[in-house]
Amino acid sequence: DNEEDLVNRPPVVTIMGHVDHGKTSLLDAIRHANVQSGEAGGITQHIGAYQVERNGQKITFIDTPGHAAFTAMRARGAQATDIAVLVVAADDSVMPQTVESINHAKAAGVPIIVAINKIDKHEADPQKVRSELLRHEVFVESMGGEVLDVEVSAKKGTNIDKLLEAILLQAEILDLKANPDRTAEGVVIEAQLDKGRGPVATVLVQTGTLMPGDILVAGNEWGRVRALVDDHGTHVQEAPPAMPVEILGLQGTPHAGDHFAVVNNEARAREITEYRQRLARDKAAAKHAGQRGSLEQMMSQ
Ligand code: GTP
Ligand code: NA
Ligand code: MG
Repeated sequence: DNEEDLVNRPPVVTIMGHVDHGKTSLLDAIRHANVQSGEAGGITQHIGAYQVERNGQKITFIDTPGHAAFTAMRARGAQATDIAVLVVAADDSVMPQTVESINHAKAAGVPIIVAINKIDKHEADPQKVRSELLRHEVFVESMGGEVLDVEVSAKKGTNIDKLLEAILLQAEILDLKANPDRTAEGVVIEAQLDKGRGPVATVLVQTGTLMPGDILVAGNEWGRVRALVDDHGTHVQEAPPAMPVEILGLQGTPHAGDHFAVVNNEARAREITEYRQRLARDKAAAKHAGQRGSLEQMMSQ
């Protein structure tokens, strides 16, 4: 893409952290804080990612179980996340999966924002969290570093706005841009076979704009987009960069972490996916033959 085609895009955020430190609660609190009054009570989770708006700026949250999704995507070489929010419970402090999360984020080169959660609890000790993070080379601002940290209570909804501000500040530093005026590409966040609707994939558009009628290849599968459904369950006519959207119309079910791209025509889509499916079959057959080979070798010894 030429420099002049690029425009600012929302940051894509993944929430990570130790078990029970409040990842799901925080995602819920963020979504609730952002609900329009008329919508209250009517919010249901439609897809594995959602967008919120703060002062007219959007933020995309990947809402699938943070750790697993992040790992699956990294294993497939997909980099969907711009910012990792590391949730650390202030009563429990740094735990093994906190350290794992730090290592994942660092290996992926993704900046961390620390959400020190559960500050409503009597046992909460946010200062202990900050100093324990030092030992894992996460230096928050008050410790002389550059990592933004926010004390929150997901339960009480405390400082959720401050956390969103910190995310937007970090996004500004990252200067995230994409070209909306081209065919779409992105990554599959999750996919399943729905009894009524057929294969359904939630994708994150990373560049370009996805539209109904587009023909796309996702991993080993392809399809013509029959409908796009946003995180509110609303049918939409386009999905610009950083927008998570559900796709209907795929012929098969792709995998989380698969790359997707819009192609020119059905023939091209078939050609690509038939080739990829043949490769996958050959690989499986070779593996099977390898297993048989070593078994025969063992038997003959
Ligand atoms: P896993 O997905 O199982 O790893 O857990 P999680 O990180 O998503 O944590 P979850 O949101 O399920 O919260 C775990 C427990 O902590 C629940 O009982 C929550 O009600 C509680 N909890 C979460 N946030 C807060 C908070 O800010 N304050 C208090 N007091 N409790 C909280
Ligand atoms: Na939990
Ligand atoms: Mg959870």
